[in-house]
Amino acid sequence: MTVRVPAKVNLQLGVGPIRDDGYHDLVNVFHAVSLFDEVTVEPAAAPEVRVQAAPYSRVSVADVPADQDNLAARAARLVAGRLGVDAHAAIRIRKAIPVAGGMAGGSADAAAALVACARLWDDRDEPVLDRASLVELGAELGSDVPFAVLGGTAVGVGRGERLTPALTRGTFHWVFATADGGLSTPAVYAECDRLRAEEGTEAGGAPAARVSEPLMTALATGDAKGLGAALANDLQPAALALRPSLGRVLDAGRELGAVGALVSGSGPTCAFLAEDEEDAADLAEALDGAGVAAQVLRAYGPVPGATVV
Ligand code: C5P
Repeated sequence: MTVRVPAKVNLQLGVGPIRDDGYHDLVNVFHAVSLFDEVTVEPAAAPEVRVQAAPYSRVSVADVPADQDNLAARAARLVAGRLGVDAHAAIRIRKAIPVAGGMAGGSADAAAALVACARLWDDRDEPVLDRASLVELGAELGSDVPFAVLGGTAVGVGRGERLTPALTRGTFHWVFATADGGLSTPAVYAECDRLRAEEGTEAGGAPAARVSEPLMTALATGDAKGLGAALANDLQPAALALRPSLGRVLDAGRELGAVGALVSGSGPTCAFLAEDEEDAADLAEALDGAGVAAQVLRAYGPVPGATVV
């Protein structure tokens, strides 16, 4: 059973106050883009995980756990537990989504494993685990997993896991600049809290985040320029503080004509929105030439979530 699953970029990442459980209240507009990992699950005598770069991809998989700690293996155990079967599966992950890049690659693999294992093991006429249950199960694995099951464009609140699909029109064209070496998500959130405390906005006293109306309007009307102007990421100052070189990457993309530029999630990947497909091709070539990125990737969105191929 093979499942293809997309990366995400956060069009808006509004970080509110820190909660008692250590997570932050978020307003998170997720957008699934056409960079895909593939996860294959096969029955096996004992659990097994293999991780490799997808063909033609230059993703470095050295830091991805190839054992039962991998989020995809945890997803398989979760599905097996719900269905009362043994989690005996060989899981093979082919990665094209940058690792620790702020594009939810690990969450994507978990979402793919949920969908693949449910299809493999839930073989009754009326499946116990429908798509809605898998979205719900995903929240037990990580804040971004439910969205990777769902795909498209969606607003997430709470930890980011309570999702409502957003109305969009047409296709948006993106260019991504990857960086060598990832950023740790908890470290970026902690830096965000530290910066806020320094500025006098105590982490606990940060105002509640609200969804941006101009952003939702731009999505609904397919207005790339409007969307570019409304892109916002409250984690960006923290990512820039931890990795100052990202400032130059963002500037380069803006100077080369992107209609919007921001750090993707907790970074360090930078996302650039182009006005149309042709502009995206030009921008990707120019950014590549500028030599500010480890790798320049093109993608479009929205695309569906984890899908059996
Ligand atoms: O949920 P997930 O395991 O993907 O989150 C990774 C880390 O990101 C958490 O351990 C936490 O430090 C941070 N986080 C947060 N608030 C959220 C989501 C994630 O502080 N809403």
